[in-house]
Amino acid sequence: MQYWLTGIKNEIIFCNMAVELDDIDIRLLTALQADADRTNVELARIAGLSPAATLHRVRWLKESGVIRIISASLDPAAAGFPLQLYVAATLARQDPRSTRVFEEQVKALPQIIAADNVAGEMDYLLTVVARDVTDLQEVLAKLAARGGQRLVTHLKLAEVKPPSRLPLAVTSRAAGPPARQRRRAAARLGAPGVGRHDEGVDEPYLTGTHRWWHLSEPSPELLAAGAALTAGKPGVAVDLGCGLGTEIGYLAGRGWRGVGVDLSLAALARARALTGAAFACADVTSLPLRAGSADLLLDRGCFHYLAPAERPSYAREAGRVLRPGGRLLLRMCLNSAGVPNGLDDETIRVTFAAWHLAALDRMDLVSDTRTMPAITAILVRPESVIAADSRSA
Ligand SMILES: C[S@@+](CC[C@H](N)C(=O)[O-])C[C@H]1O[C@@H](n2cnc3c(N)ncnc32)[C@H](O)[C@@H]1O
Repeated sequence: MQYWLTGIKNEIIFCNMAVELDDIDIRLLTALQADADRTNVELARIAGLSPAATLHRVRWLKESGVIRIISASLDPAAAGFPLQLYVAATLARQDPRSTRVFEEQVKALPQIIAADNVAGEMDYLLTVVARDVTDLQEVLAKLAARGGQRLVTHLKLAEVKPPSRLPLAVTSRAAGPPARQRRRAAARLGAPGVGRHDEGVDEPYLTGTHRWWHLSEPSPELLAAGAALTAGKPGVAVDLGCGLGTEIGYLAGRGWRGVGVDLSLAALARARALTGAAFACADVTSLPLRAGSADLLLDRGCFHYLAPAERPSYAREAGRVLRPGGRLLLRMCLNSAGVPNGLDDETIRVTFAAWHLAALDRMDLVSDTRTMPAITAILVRPESVIAADSRSA
């Protein structure tokens, strides 16, 4: 594990691991598993939250992958499938090609409504529904033709216990920002404020609003800054508010050890799929990184999201994780939702009072869909940043 990351191992592999759930999550999940058709108002009553907070919770449970999908559970017999069977299938050969051919057939047959690869006497356990015996024979023949050497069918006679709720329990996570802090911060992304990009309260990476700022290639200002940022030698780079990870992915592809930090689980899930960097779900005002561990910080469009009271914490965290002499390439947008947000050069000078300002330019940030007025600054972290904390408040 990289020594320079603290406490974010679990966050980086977030999509593969259990998610922290508190008692309100459990109440919501239990209620939704029993009947997913409940209204938000009903759920709010069960959870003891406001309707808006309940919407946020449920949305977070979906983004985090705990809720895979909300769907209707049908009665097969009532829907015209009187035959329900389990088929234990054993393959003639176990090599990757044979396995792939068989699994593709399983996926292609609509009568197979569930299939698992299992350890033990058989290779697969399939759940099959059929309208009649001919329908069933057709399924078995196709499986046999695709490598299913031994197909043992077990006719379902009666349901003893229907597919039931998971026995959920409150869990806690050893590392990473607490669920409450993550949610509060995530809710802030959609709330009115300096950095708001849209008029809705939805997560921009789910609604598509991120197209406003997303650039699917490394930004011209990152390319232009080049050696001025890096002294020509790759080290550790951290992208603050990395979004879909374009810039940190670019650096990772050039030999940097990169980590992208963002509050949006939806963005991080997509970033992880696309780039070679590591990713952490964290607030930029509380970074899960060791002091002095980064050689370079990037920020394209995150700083201006922060409320004025949060800016000193941002500068403190940036100064803590960046090594002395390390650089921060800051791109601060001057509009939010197309309207001037009141930020200017002075915001940067005051926030980073103790830092050395190596460059400051007004320019238009380019995204895939538009240009946005912004200030680009290259800030050099001094030996000591203690003065910055006290002065920038
Ligand atoms: C304008 S977008 C820019 C994203 C990315 N840097 C890019 O260039 O596409 C701002 C990003 O900052 C993230 N963000 C906002 N406030 C944050 C905070 N306090 N901590 C971490 N990320 C934050 C948002 O989720 C969003 O992905």
